[in-house]
Amino acid sequence: MSTLHIVDHPLIQHKLSIMRNKKTGSKDFRELLSEIAMLMGYELTRDLPLEDIQIETPICKMTAKTISGKKLAIVPILRAGLGMVDGLQKLVPVAKVGHIGLYRDPETHLPHEYYCKLPPDIEDRIVILVDPMLATGGSASDALTMLKKHGCHNIKFMALVGVPEGITKVQAEHPDVDIYVAAQDECLNEHAYIVPGLGDAGDRIFGTK
Ligand code: PRP
Ligand code: URA
Repeated sequence: MSTLHIVDHPLIQHKLSIMRNKKTGSKDFRELLSEIAMLMGYELTRDLPLEDIQIETPICKMTAKTISGKKLAIVPILRAGLGMVDGLQKLVPVAKVGHIGLYRDPETHLPHEYYCKLPPDIEDRIVILVDPMLATGGSASDALTMLKKHGCHNIKFMALVGVPEGITKVQAEHPDVDIYVAAQDECLNEHAYIVPGLGDAGDRIFGTK
């Protein structure tokens, strides 16, 4: 069974509260999402393997640590996942970025694929799939299935807010994928929006409503 990590550092909780406030505009919303993604990324990359390298400081030779082996890929689910990419890229500038386009049907709430472009060597990379909202879990679960069809076998999923329904679905369908959220909210409403949540993340990032 995958592990659910709730990354509830005080800075993250504070920033998330500002994002939840309906009075917060797109500029601040985007900046806060990026900052939280970076703070969560710090925790998510905690177990990256290290190896020894030989270097020379201005004083002497030494054995120093460097991140070893597998490289990273960041894969946002379009659109809202885009808001988490630059925060993670600040931590890992050499990470490649893939894109998965999914939209949720407003009636059925089921995800529909409209785009997929991934780095050619994605199967050799540790993949961080990102999307701020984990609601029914349909989008995250389908995106994980798409990544696995492309050979990915080392994947973590990072969301901002999740609810038990979506978390349970992703854990049941992808028990090998650890999930990172900043907060676990209460439930879904009749439109499958997260309660209390923060509204439509894509619209708030891009100012489309
Ligand atoms: C939102 C969100 C997730 C999805 C979550 O995207 O960004 O991708 O819904 O819902 P789920 O867990 O029930 O699948 P949306 O389909 O609204 O597209 P957008 O990001 O382009 O606005
Ligand atoms: N997508 C969003 O953007 N917000 C929700 O609450 C649920 C799905």
